[in-house]
Amino acid sequence: MKQDMIVILDLGGEQSAQIAREVRALGVYSEIHPNDLTAQQLAALPGVRGFILNGGPNNVVDGAALEPSEAVLQSGLPVFAADYDGAPAWPAGDAERKQMLRAFVFDTCKAEANWNMKNFIADQIELVRRQVGDKKVLLALSGGVDSSVLAALLLRAIGDQLTCVHVNHGLLRKGEPEQVVQVFRHNLGANLVYVDATDRFLDKLAGVADPEQKRKIIGAEFIRVFEEEARKLSGIEFLAQGTIYPDIVESGTKTNKVVKSHHNVGGLPEDLAFELVEPVRQLFKDEVRAAGLALGLPADMVYRQPFPGPGLGVRCLGAITRDRLEALRESDAILREEFAKAGLDKTVWQYFTIVPDLKSVGVRDNARCDEWPAIIRAVNTVDAMTATIEDIPWPVLHAITQRIVTEVKGINRVCYDLTPKPTGTIEWE
Ligand code: XMP
Repeated sequence: MKQDMIVILDLGGEQSAQIAREVRALGVYSEIHPNDLTAQQLAALPGVRGFILNGGPNNVVDGAALEPSEAVLQSGLPVFAADYDGAPAWPAGDAERKQMLRAFVFDTCKAEANWNMKNFIADQIELVRRQVGDKKVLLALSGGVDSSVLAALLLRAIGDQLTCVHVNHGLLRKGEPEQVVQVFRHNLGANLVYVDATDRFLDKLAGVADPEQKRKIIGAEFIRVFEEEARKLSGIEFLAQGTIYPDIVESGTKTNKVVKSHHNVGGLPEDLAFELVEPVRQLFKDEVRAAGLALGLPADMVYRQPFPGPGLGVRCLGAITRDRLEALRESDAILREEFAKAGLDKTVWQYFTIVPDLKSVGVRDNARCDEWPAIIRAVNTVDAMTATIEDIPWPVLHAITQRIVTEVKGINRVCYDLTPKPTGTIEWE
């Protein structure tokens, strides 16, 4: 193994993620684990040089105080306690705290500053090979950043033993399914099962206008299609998931409340219970992107803007029709092209169009035309809980408008949504 590691044991401290990032900033890999890490789990962690017991305000769970596992205390490795069992809390000053961490990591633990993407990838490849042996692994490859990076890493680790399934639910952006097939099947040589389930999804969604109902149908159908594909394959024992660290925190650890549940491939039936392979689960989003670049994925795939699971389904407002969905997909593609041309793809967090189920009067070729509007949404945010509207230069907005109303069938107006969140959510449904 190439990397040394400092393990942060979560004893209810609020800053475990921050401390992990600070240790990594010193050049030493670090992982966060629950307080009750077992001896077996600890033995499977490579390169551990020391522990940080991170106590804090959430250290009493269900009436009992969280204690560090015996395995940790008996490991013989250095332990640094903060805000736990009489140990002082972290100093507030950044410099002081950095000094403390530096002294512990380098002087006490004698860790080497050998954390970098190349070493991380090499170590994870080794760990995946150990876990999987000569067995087969299944992966739902959405084309999003996390699953794409995971697929690229697993291909390096186990090549042919990996089967990727890409389900096109018909609600992806223009060019996305094609890019997934090109990059993974043709460029990287992956076993890729491509399922065009567009008709299935759109038939199920026909006439359904309620946004929550639409989301439920899309989620449930996705699992059904994936399950069908999984049953066609034989001898699969593992399921790879692109879980990353913020997903774990948001789904709720013992010391953190649930923000929202994340199920990359949730809800598979019991008889399809696979063991999970999650090699990027300790990474933060920027690190996942760096891993993607190091693995040779195209930059536009690695820097893709966030895209909701139900995809264009929540932007084709009300009951989805194929013609309006097509108008949405085309107008979104134009927006993305023009944003890229203007360099706005680097500065705006999320940008897309919405096509409501509403027509207005317009004029085209000297005749009245009743067509839909396309609404532009472009927001910046840190955590998607609130969002702001950045200034988009007028010439860019004019150019986008001109192209959409001339190139997209069925759109005769373009509107720009100036509403921050709150009061407007980012998506319209
Ligand atoms: P809202 O609309 O709630 O969106 O302001 C916040 C962020 O979450 C994304 N979003 C979703 N992502 N499934 C997802 O995977 C969903 O159902 C969903 N709804 C919203 C949205 O794109 C934005 O980034």
